[in-house]
Amino acid sequence: MDSSDFYRFLKARSSVRSYSGEPLDPEDIDYILACASTAPSAGNREAWDVVIVTDEDIRIDLALAALEQEHIREAPAIFVVCANYVRSMSQYGERGILYALQDAAIACTYMMLAAHTRSLHSCWTGAFDESSVREILYLPEHIRPVALLAIGRGVPPLQPVGRMLVAEHTHREVW
Ligand SMILES: Cc1cc2nc3c(=O)[nH]c(=O)nc-3n(C[C@H](O)[C@H](O)[C@H](O)COP(=O)(O)O)c2cc1C
Repeated sequence: MDSSDFYRFLKARSSVRSYSGEPLDPEDIDYILACASTAPSAGNREAWDVVIVTDEDIRIDLALAALEQEHIREAPAIFVVCANYVRSMSQYGERGILYALQDAAIACTYMMLAAHTRSLHSCWTGAFDESSVREILYLPEHIRPVALLAIGRGVPPLQPVGRMLVAEHTHREVW
């Protein structure tokens, strides 16, 4: 893949919020996880974990926790990507909180892009009630749910959403 292929690949992904419910193949799940484990992390601590939810009853509970976002119920798999504070803070103290959140975010990004290479759709979902998600999944205290990544096969939007101009984000040398 050259750089223009890579750019086209990125441009071809959109968040999908309507799913067929067709289950993921176990190999798809293994592939997505293998890709995530190649992600960089602070001090190589890999301070992220994931709970893979395919059970419909749990997905219904998660959808309610996610402010009733229907795609969380519809998608056949929800990858609940979490920051593992203990893994990072044991080395970095308070700074480890920030690192664990970054580790989880990049692992989630790799999962999202890995799904895209297999023509699977996804939707990164950050709007959810954290304490409800903790309760539903029995998350220990030091594990913080960062994103519910819905993955499946669905209907992409007809038009991709637009972006700000790159120049609006960009500052050269100093702010
Ligand atoms: C941190 C984060 C939180 C998000 N939360 C939600 C969400 O709760 N519900 C949702 O439908 N999409 C959510 N999204 C997806 C964004 O809405 C989407 O990425 C953005 O509109 C750009 O669209 P695109 O992914 O199709 O390019 C989230 C994305 C990120 C990165």
